[in-house]
Amino acid sequence: MNNTQPMRALITGITGQDGSYLTELLLEKGYEVHGLVRRSSTFNTDRIDHLYVDPHTPGARLKLHFADLTDASRLVTLIDTIQPHEVYNLAAQSHVRVSFDEPEYTGDTTGLGTIRLLEAIRAAGSDARFYQASSSEMFGATPPPQNEETPFYPRSPYGAAKVYSYWITKNYREAYGVFASNGILFNHESPRRGDTFVTRKITRAVARIAAGQQSELFMGNLDAVRDWGYAPEYVEAMWRMLQHDEPDDFVVATGTSYTVRDFLELSFGHVGLDYRDYVRFDERYLRPTEVDALIGDFGKAQDRLGWTPKVLTPRLAQIMVEADQAALEVEGSRYVDAVQTA
Ligand SMILES: NC(=O)c1ccc[n+]([C@@H]2O[C@H](COP(=O)([O-])OP(=O)(O)OC[C@H]3O[C@@H](n4cnc5c(N)ncnc54)[C@H](OP(=O)(O)O)[C@@H]3O)[C@@H](O)[C@H]2O)c1
Repeated sequence: MNNTQPMRALITGITGQDGSYLTELLLEKGYEVHGLVRRSSTFNTDRIDHLYVDPHTPGARLKLHFADLTDASRLVTLIDTIQPHEVYNLAAQSHVRVSFDEPEYTGDTTGLGTIRLLEAIRAAGSDARFYQASSSEMFGATPPPQNEETPFYPRSPYGAAKVYSYWITKNYREAYGVFASNGILFNHESPRRGDTFVTRKITRAVARIAAGQQSELFMGNLDAVRDWGYAPEYVEAMWRMLQHDEPDDFVVATGTSYTVRDFLELSFGHVGLDYRDYVRFDERYLRPTEVDALIGDFGKAQDRLGWTPKVLTPRLAQIMVEADQAALEVEGSRYVDAVQTA
């Protein structure tokens, strides 16, 4: 590589939770970051707005491009014009429950989207390193602890689509010599987690209940066991995978386990409340097939990438509750301002 040129990365899913943290990390490291953004009738760039500078500004290193993982020819054009050194495929219909409602669309984006991108890399003759956002949901019904050798048994259209993407990534590594790695990430959360994912749904509700703005929280299965880590630490593992001397597959997890009920207890406990006074059951939140327990063994990532998690679930719940309380205060003060100036 020419030393005067910065490293160029292309991130699909840049507007998502992980995409936003990865963008911060890569910009800090001096990369030029290109992000694929879906055209939408309302702005969908909230998570990266703080990083955006007008592209006319000299030295601007974040560049956004309209594209979609369902549009193969656009992906070819983008790879060809950007000539990235690294491609991070984070885009997906990423919600497990929603994948039962939209199974075909989930297969198209979360599954076939990966082959479209890999084919674009091949068609452009690119030697970009490729990261695939694989998921612990691929293990599904296989009991924990799960590591890189654990057989897959997905329990949702989302998990099945991710299994396809996992294998096609591995296949392009073996068939065409693409530097393609799978990060098999267990659940990771943050204040930027989507509002309908269980942890964020809980911490938002806790903030609102503590502020007297909500009185009930409707939940589904409280017995599911998960291994929740902190998203900013997990994007560091993604980057390390592409700096490794050879492509490989890595589990990224904390190795600890908590139930959804535990997460409720931790989050409500943080504001001095008992979750049992507020939580109600709603069967609509149950999935047709549940994943009972996911607990990752991250030994390989620790040995080969030197990666270890620092923030564990109790601290994570605290970070998220505090962030949602702070966000509510800002929202509240904006509302007061609007009323006063109306
Ligand atoms: N967070 C976790 O615990 C976890 C664990 C394992 C694996 N993963 C996987 O890691 C990746 C990142 O997760 P995340 O939590 O950051 O997900 P997220 O917040 O839901 O972000 C998903 C991103 O994908 C984009 N996207 C969706 N469909 C697209 C399409 N057809 N074309 C282009 N972009 C599309 C979204 O764009 P919009 O903003 O326009 O919707 C968004 O930027 C996902 O692939 C997810 O499945 C996540």
